[in-house]
Amino acid sequence: MKVTVVGAGAVGATTADNIARAALCEDLVLLDIKEGIAEGKAQDMMQTAALLGFNTRITGSTNDYSKTAGSDVVVITSGLPRKPGMTREELIGTNAGIVKGVAENILKYSPDAIIIVVSNPMDTMTYLALQSTGLPKNRIIGMGGALDSARFKYQLSQHLQCSPADLNGIVVGGHGDTTMIPLIRYATWNSAPVISFLSEEQQKQIVADTMVGGATLTKLIGTSAWYAPGAAAAALVEAIVRDQKKLFSCCVYLDGEYGQSDICLGVPVVIGKTGWEKIIDYKLNEAEQAEFAKSAAAVRAMNEVLKTI
Ligand code: 2OP
Repeated sequence: MKVTVVGAGAVGATTADNIARAALCEDLVLLDIKEGIAEGKAQDMMQTAALLGFNTRITGSTNDYSKTAGSDVVVITSGLPRKPGMTREELIGTNAGIVKGVAENILKYSPDAIIIVVSNPMDTMTYLALQSTGLPKNRIIGMGGALDSARFKYQLSQHLQCSPADLNGIVVGGHGDTTMIPLIRYATWNSAPVISFLSEEQQKQIVADTMVGGATLTKLIGTSAWYAPGAAAAALVEAIVRDQKKLFSCCVYLDGEYGQSDICLGVPVVIGKTGWEKIIDYKLNEAEQAEFAKSAAAVRAMNEVLKTI
C-alpha cells in the first residue's frame, strides 16, 4: 500500500504521523510546495520509527509528484489555514486554485487513487476536486464530518462526564460554523440515547459548541487546529486501506440522497477499499431535513463562487 499526503503543514504532517504510527501502509509520501519542509518532516518522522517500532517508509518531496506515483490513497491538505476571526469560506479564492492543481498532478501519477479532501472550504473543495478530475464519485471523500463528529463526541463527553470512546454521534451537513448539523437525537452513550441524560439547555450548548469547534481552536491557537483533523484524515485512510466498512460522516457527492443533487455534503457513508461505498439513510425528521436543505443552500452558494474564479 502507498499513501500520499499533500501539504506538509500542521494538518498534513499530523495526518502522516498518525498513518505511520498505525503502520497503515508500506510507503508514505509527504509532499509540499515549500522547499525542504516535506523532506525535513519526513526525516523527523522516520527518526521516530526506531522508538515507536513502525516500518512504514516515509519520503518527503518538494513538489515532485513523480515520487507519489502509484499511490492508493491521497490526502489533500494543501492551502491556507484559517486565521482567528476568519471563516473557512473566506479561503476559497486561494485554495480553489491550489486544490485543483494538486488533484490534477496527483492523477497524472496515481490514476487509481482514492482522494480525501481536507482543504477548506472543505465541501466546496470536495465538489471542485470531483468536477475538475471527473473521477467516479466514490473516489472523492471530504473529511469534515469525521472531524466534526469527533468534536461532537468530545462536547458530549464533557457534559456526560464519560469516555468519548463510549459515545456514538454524527454530524451531517456542511463543514462550516453555521452549516453543520450535530444529530443529537441520534447520539448514544453505549446504546442509551444521550438526550435522556441532558437538559434541553445542555443539548443546545453541546450543538452550538460543536458547530464552532474549529473556530474556538483557531482563536485559542492563532491558526487552524491539527491534532483532530490529522487523526480524522488518518482514520479515513485506515478504513480504506484495511477495508473496514466503517460508518463515518463524510462529504460526498449527492445524487438525490437526502433530497439533494449536484452537491458534495456530509452524510453517513460506509468507507472501505473502493472509497465511500454507500450512503446510509438516517431518516431525518422534518426539522433536521429542513436544516439539511438550509446547509445545502449555503454550500451551493459557495460552489457558485467557483464559477467566478
Ligand atoms: C477544522 O475545523 C481544519 O477545518 C478544519 O479545524
